Order: sequence, then C-alpha cells, then structure tokens
Amino acid sequence: MTMINQIQIPMTTFPELVTANLHLRELVPTDAEAVYRIYVEEEVTRFYDLDTFDDIRQATELIRRQRSRFERGEGLRWGIAQRANNVIIGSVGYVFSQHNAQGGIGYDLARPYWRKGIMTEALRLVIHYGFSSLKLNRIQALVIPGNSASVGLLTKLGFEEEGLLRDYAFFKGRYNDLICYALLKRDYGASDYALLKGDEKQHKKVV
Ligand SMILES: CC(C)(COP(=O)(O)OP(=O)(O)OC[C@H]1O[C@@H](n2cnc3c(N)ncnc32)[C@H](O)[C@@H]1OP(=O)(O)O)[C@@H](O)C(=O)NCCC(=O)NCCS
Repeated sequence: MTMINQIQIPMTTFPELVTANLHLRELVPTDAEAVYRIYVEEEVTRFYDLDTFDDIRQATELIRRQRSRFERGEGLRWGIAQRANNVIIGSVGYVFSQHNAQGGIGYDLARPYWRKGIMTEALRLVIHYGFSSLKLNRIQALVIPGNSASVGLLTKLGFEEEGLLRDYAFFKGRYNDLICYALLKRDYGASDYALLKGDEKQHKKVV
C-alpha cells in the first residue's frame, strides 16, 4: 500500500487502463526493443531530459528504473500499446510529490504515431485516473520552451500556463529553462470537461 495525501492507494498491483484504442500497462523486460525504438529517434528526445538512445541496454535499464520507482511509490509510468497488437508505442505517467498530492506528468510517443490523437486519448484517462483514483490535487507538466506539440496537447486538455522556471533543470550538459503548466482538481471538477465525460463510457479500468 502506498500513501498519497493521507489516502491509502492499493499499488501492489500495477493499475492497467484501457481506452477505446489503447492499452496502458506496465512495461516489462520483453518490451525493451519497442522502448528502444521510441527513444532512438532524436526528435522524440529533443525536448526531454533524456539522451537519444544508441544501445538497447538503455531501454532495459529504463524499464528496470520505472519498476523500482513504482515499487517505492514514487511514480507510475504506463507503457502505451495499441489494443490491436499490444506493442508498446509510447509511455505516460506520473512522478509523485506525495506530501502535496501532486503528480508531475510526462509522456512520449514513437515518431510514426504523432498527430493522430493518441496522446490526447491516453492523457484524458491518465488525468481522470490521477484525480479520481490517485486523489491527486494538482497535475503539473514542465515543458522545454519550443516544444509546441507538448504545449498544444496540454492546452487542449485544459492545463494553464503558470510561468517560466529559469535555469530550472540541469541536463544534456547545461541548465534549461522550463515552462510550468498545471491542471488543478478543482478546475477539472468544476469544468464540464466534455472530452472526459464523453470518453468515460469507453474507458474501463482493468485493475
Ligand atoms: C507531445 C506528443 C506526446 C504529442 O502526442 P500526439 O499523440 O502526437 O498528440 P495529439 O495527436 O493527441 O495532439 C494533441 C494536440 O497537441 C498539439 N500538437 C500535437 N502535435 C503537434 C505538433 N507536431 N505541432 C504542433 N502542435 C501539435 C495539437 O494542438 C493537437 O491537437 P489537434 O490535433 O486537435 O490540433 C508527441 O509529439 C511526442 O512524443 N513528442 C516527443 C516527446 C515529448 O516532447 N514529450 C513531452 C515532454 S514535456
């Protein structure tokens, strides 16, 4: 059991989620090849605190790290597979700041699958799960300036831009500015969030 904001969340079993087209599930060692294919593309890692992969062992290590984060209750990262074939094409998830019920959200998709509405579909459910099941109060995204795809996605989902964090994170050999976006539970709850209500019928929590 993991404690988030005084609420016991049963996290001994990894929570699988499904949407109309996607299966969100834990990454396992046999996904290494598919995970490697995502991060071997420079376009995918360009706006990420992750070096472009050049060795499949980096994918194996990433999967192992995400498993241990989950076991420690520090984060939850789903692999995104198309329901049709269960092959991993991306990932999405949270890093938790438990004392303030906050989830830092991150996401990526293999280059051939961009701009087909896939991450919108995945995030709608992950956000809903974050507020309703994990009992998060705030979902935050930190975006490198210039990542227009990520900004467009967050804006479409109702996130508000809060400001520029100057020299906030050191990666790829330099300090990077990050733009902070957030969605609060009260705003999410107050809005009709038509996109969610419509989709909820299609969403089924497996675990
Ligand atoms: C960000 C990313 C996950 C978007 O996934 P996606 O499935 O292509 O996004 P969607 O198709 O659901 O698009 C949602 C909205 O985002 C915006 N958007 C997506 N891709 C865009 C692009 N290349 N250029 C401009 N806007 C874009 C649009 O507003 C779009 O809505 P619309 O199609 O109704 O106009 C994908 O580009 C990616 O993996 N990028 C590399 C990893 C990354 O940068 N992650 C985020 C780190 S903060």
